[in-house]
Amino acid sequence: MRFDKNCVLVTGGGSGIGRAACLAFAREGADIGVADVSAANAEATAQAVRQAGRKAVVLSVDVTSPPSVQAMVQQALTGLGQLDVLVNSAGVREIIPFLQLPFEEWQRVLAVNLNGTFLCSQAVAQYLVTRGQGGKIINLASVAGLSAVPNRAAYVASKHAVVGLTKEMALELASKNIQVNAVAPGVVRTSMTESYFDKESVMERLKQAHPAGRWAMPEEIAELILFLASPAADFITGATFPIDGGFMAGKGL
Ligand SMILES: NC(=O)c1ccc[n+]([C@@H]2O[C@H](COP(=O)([O-])OP(=O)(O)OC[C@H]3O[C@@H](n4cnc5c(N)ncnc54)[C@H](O)[C@@H]3O)[C@@H](O)[C@H]2O)c1
Repeated sequence: MRFDKNCVLVTGGGSGIGRAACLAFAREGADIGVADVSAANAEATAQAVRQAGRKAVVLSVDVTSPPSVQAMVQQALTGLGQLDVLVNSAGVREIIPFLQLPFEEWQRVLAVNLNGTFLCSQAVAQYLVTRGQGGKIINLASVAGLSAVPNRAAYVASKHAVVGLTKEMALELASKNIQVNAVAPGVVRTSMTESYFDKESVMERLKQAHPAGRWAMPEEIAELILFLASPAADFITGATFPIDGGFMAGKGL
């Protein structure tokens, strides 16, 4: 199995892409720290990991809070004994036109998506550097980190910043054998996007936006995350990979 004897910490592990990543890593032999602001959802993922035969530690965390993030890393190390991989999947998104976007909402989205990625990555990277055996960090960017999407100014800004932070961390951590990359999904069906699927007209627009003619399921994104966390990706760092059914390849006429 690809991740035998590995320990993986996944923020946002209680739902969607983070949950799918936890289960995929467990299937490949890893023990998992399931971190989420929703302890109940993290516990549900942890139970599924245990059913797959792997160890799971539930970590209740608010990724916007430095003390909470420090406690998460300490509890992960106490429960799992080591960490090899961090997946930053905790995220939130607004749908509000730029002209009406309240500053508080701007701050909320930036706090989770950008500050959270910074805080968790820094805390885990400090541990990885001290341990001296390298490691991998995978960030959740988005096609909204590579291109604008209407009515999502804070989300788009936060995901562009995640792409930049990914490059910066890769640059500064490469000599420590820590690889940092990001994945940039198109629309994935999760609780973040569930409201899109209430309306036939929105579903039709989603299909048209993706040349593949469909959206993704979280398990498909987890496979790319697993590859980037594996030794097969040891020479890949600082990169952001669209996984978007062709969304970023170009627009139709
Ligand atoms: N679903 C999509 O279409 C899509 C597309 C591109 C990128 N992404 C990104 O993928 C990541 C996962 O999204 P998802 O679709 O799985 O969403 P989701 O809502 O299903 O899961 C996000 C998780 O993050 C957790 N979270 C939110 N705020 C937190 C905080 N302060 N501290 C700790 N945990 C917190 C939530 O409780 C939730 O469990 C996000 O970064 C998102 O921006 C999603």
